[in-house]
Amino acid sequence: MPFEIETERLILRDAVPGDWSSIHIYASNPDVVQHSIWGPNTEAETQEYVTQLIELSHEKPRRSYELVVTLKETGELIGGCGIHQAGYNAELGYTFNPQYWGKGYATEAAFAIVQLGFEQWEIHRIFATCRPGNTASSSVMKRIGMKREGRLREHLYFKGAFHDSEMYSILRQEFESVVR
Ligand SMILES: CC(C)(COP(=O)(O)OP(=O)(O)OC[C@H]1O[C@@H](n2cnc3c(N)ncnc32)[C@H](O)[C@@H]1OP(=O)(O)O)[C@@H](O)C(=O)NCCC(=O)NCCS
Repeated sequence: MPFEIETERLILRDAVPGDWSSIHIYASNPDVVQHSIWGPNTEAETQEYVTQLIELSHEKPRRSYELVVTLKETGELIGGCGIHQAGYNAELGYTFNPQYWGKGYATEAAFAIVQLGFEQWEIHRIFATCRPGNTASSSVMKRIGMKREGRLREHLYFKGAFHDSEMYSILRQEFESVVR
């Protein structure tokens, strides 16, 4: 049974092979991936990525939910949102098609995935990082209740340079005090 989560306006679900072309619209866009380690993707890279998502979805027990985000009303695929567990921590990430930015969809999806993480696993902390210039991403983190921990200095090398990251997190008790 494919995994899915429903929110007010969205359905987050496991990827299927035919999703690659909708994902490729944003994964091949240089503006979308400017702060990311990956991309802009070739068609073959996006297809390989979808293959990996499907493989991840078969893992038992699951330690990752890397889901595609679709509009409940139309079924359109508008982005991706994922969480990966390691020990008492999990890492959150997301990327959306720019056509759907500015509507709160990323915040809605990220909140649902954080809730999933705390429900599915005995984790204590969920974190996410973004590059310092990526204020759209740090705003999503703050809106879902994450707190800024600090700056990781030049810890990532990609696209020809070392990059800093801002680290944000939410602890189980903080999340529970929001949803209660
Ligand atoms: C990061 C990213 C997903 C954020 O997308 P986003 O559309 O800005 O985020 P949201 O969906 O939460 O939308 C928030 C905006 O919608 C507005 N909005 C409208 N309706 C809303 C609603 N119902 N609820 C919340 N916000 C709403 C907010 O006011 C906010 O607008 P503002 O940015 O002008 O203040 C997007 O910029 C992206 O895909 N970037 C490229 C990939 C990337 O960098 N990923 C993160 C890697 S660290």
